[in-house]
Amino acid sequence: MKAAIMGYGIVGGGIAKVLTENKSKVKQILGEECELGYILDLRDFPEDPYGDRVVRSLDEILADKEVRVICETMGGLKPAYEYTKRILQQGISVCTSNKELVAAHGAELLTIAKDHNCSYLFEASVGGGIPLLRPFSTTLMHERIDRVTGVLNGTTNYMLSCMQKGDTFDMALTRAQQKGYAEKDPTADIEGHDACRKIAILGSLAGGARVNTDDVQTEGITKLTEQDFEYARCNDYTIKLVAEAKLEGGAVGAVVAPFLVPMSHALASVNGVFNACIVHGNMLGDVMFYGQGAGRDATASAVVSDMIDALLHDGEHVFVNLSAVPALRMDDLQMTHRFFVRVDESEKAKAVKTFGEDISFVEARGVFGEWAFITAPMSEADFAAALKSLDEVRGYLRVLEA
Ligand code: HSE
Repeated sequence: MKAAIMGYGIVGGGIAKVLTENKSKVKQILGEECELGYILDLRDFPEDPYGDRVVRSLDEILADKEVRVICETMGGLKPAYEYTKRILQQGISVCTSNKELVAAHGAELLTIAKDHNCSYLFEASVGGGIPLLRPFSTTLMHERIDRVTGVLNGTTNYMLSCMQKGDTFDMALTRAQQKGYAEKDPTADIEGHDACRKIAILGSLAGGARVNTDDVQTEGITKLTEQDFEYARCNDYTIKLVAEAKLEGGAVGAVVAPFLVPMSHALASVNGVFNACIVHGNMLGDVMFYGQGAGRDATASAVVSDMIDALLHDGEHVFVNLSAVPALRMDDLQMTHRFFVRVDESEKAKAVKTFGEDISFVEARGVFGEWAFITAPMSEADFAAALKSLDEVRGYLRVLEA
């Protein structure tokens, strides 16, 4: 049996490496060799050991009936969406790391795969190499999952780890780019879009119904200031870009935003490009997944695990717990958090009147001319309304419960 890779970039190259280095392991599991027959890319790779497998057209790959699985590591929607549909319609399985495509069209592609007795698998789309998604369709299926909370973006987590140690935003971004974590255009990471897609996928799998990315309240890390980190340091918190989905009665409420995370919380010690995800089930309680959330080899390893699953079930459909039925969006009144708010010193009385007497004031070394406080738990809707009534808000963060 043969495999192919569409998009020979970082992850695509990693898949070739995993298939080469772990060739005998893969053969042992499958009972025969899985040959990397084709690489679809517009570029040439003359120095690459698989350089002679490069083709320009998908038709050439589809004409070879020995190809039973194709890895889509092109990223983006175009042409990945059309290509994936065409492949699945021919009964050939697709494994991908493309979270943008999965978040936008995953349910539809799964239906096509089911109708054509093949599989659409996307373990590598969330949490890089962490074996995080498959349990939602296997060992966690019987649980009533009510909460998924994670640090799901490696680039911003690396940047925030640097900023916690004193880097400015720009210094941290430059460092992340130098290390090869952040893209030249880092928008999707720093504005939270990448984590938004990932929590939409996780929320969909946790509830078995499709969570739309538009229903995820998404805030990035670009508004964080040195003062925010000073407050965090002085009050035993760190700051993380947290992705959270709450599930109740068929409704899902999801948010991606920078949170103050108590140092005692398990997510506080997830540093650098590492990711972690805590899943809470009604019988299981908390279970935590942790590992490399980005990076070539780890992500490629997750794609190869899907390839093996698809090949072991060649001619069948591997079940994934995601239906095309849209999940209900949880009312913002049901989504509650405590909020950390910074206001100009002239707004103290108004802030107390607006947020109530039970706010607790916090201080930070060297930050003057403002008041900062943490509210009692309140709904997203109430917080948004309260914020509007103040004129001089310097910033706010949600607080992750310990
Ligand atoms: N840009 C992503 C991240 C890559 O930094 O987490 C892995 O999905």
